Amino acid sequence: MEYTCILVTKPIDGVGVIQINRPAVLNALNLQTMTEIVAALGEFDADTTVRCIVLYGNEKAFAAGADIKEMTGADTVEMMKRDQFAKWEKIRTTKKPIIAAVSGFALGGGCELAMLCDMIVASDTAKFGQPEINIGVMPGAGGTQRLTRAVGKALAMEIALTGRMISAQEALSAGLVNRVVPTNVFFEEALALAKEVASKAPIATMLVKEAVLKSFSSTLEGGLEFERKNFYMLFSTEDQKEGMEAFVEKRKPNWKGR
Ligand code: CAA
Repeated sequence: MEYTCILVTKPIDGVGVIQINRPAVLNALNLQTMTEIVAALGEFDADTTVRCIVLYGNEKAFAAGADIKEMTGADTVEMMKRDQFAKWEKIRTTKKPIIAAVSGFALGGGCELAMLCDMIVASDTAKFGQPEINIGVMPGAGGTQRLTRAVGKALAMEIALTGRMISAQEALSAGLVNRVVPTNVFFEEALALAKEVASKAPIATMLVKEAVLKSFSSTLEGGLEFERKNFYMLFSTEDQKEGMEAFVEKRKPNWKGR
């Protein structure tokens, strides 16, 4: 697929990189951009040389939300026909871990996109928010659900009801992001984290992601059963043998992804 709204970098050290590239509109997520992000994630998911993915924008904006200009004249029927957020669901089912490197604005759909990723590395100038209330609507791509799970009811209510942006430090204290790093190295720090993840056993990595996400949609009992089955399943991989033998032989494992 030819990309016009994103830049995709060929995998290096097991990490595939996607950059949202609409700087003139603070990386507003129009339909084309989301189609391209989903397609690029699909390609990386199918590529066995990719073990982790980084998604980022630029220093000023990860993404300032869904593209408001594309939605202004739409009515309910038109929005339902577009069903644009259904496409976002495909991001949730990406098997490989995705790290969002966020600097500047991550607002509305931008915040929701970052939360769809598995970890967030934030620059010290990152700002997170769900300002849809200021334009007469509300979050539509998981903001009321994922934000609440990440930061708790009190702060999620405040963010979605007032549209207030929170700083990177506040996001860190609230548990929304993994770490806050200086802006001039935010991408490099995310890449380093991605390379660390990419250096682990690939099948185990995917099953860990799957099991952690399962905790959002299952009872504790159901989730524990799911986890246990994934754990047992890994004993049919060559990498389980390799990992445990390497430990016993005091050497580094050589993962095969099988
Ligand atoms: N959609 C379309 N265009 C956007 C945009 C968006 N979400 N956010 C910014 N832009 C555009 C602006 O229109 C402007 O374009 P022009 O130069 O052509 O006028 C350009 O990006 C730069 O923006 P500003 O001049 O506004 O920059 P600023 O630094 O003064 O303000 C900002 C930055 C506070 C982020 C402000 O742009 C803003 O409030 N943006 C909208 C944020 C928002 O409401 N996001 C939620 C969208 S709805 C949504 O996401 C629904 C959902 O749940 C998925």
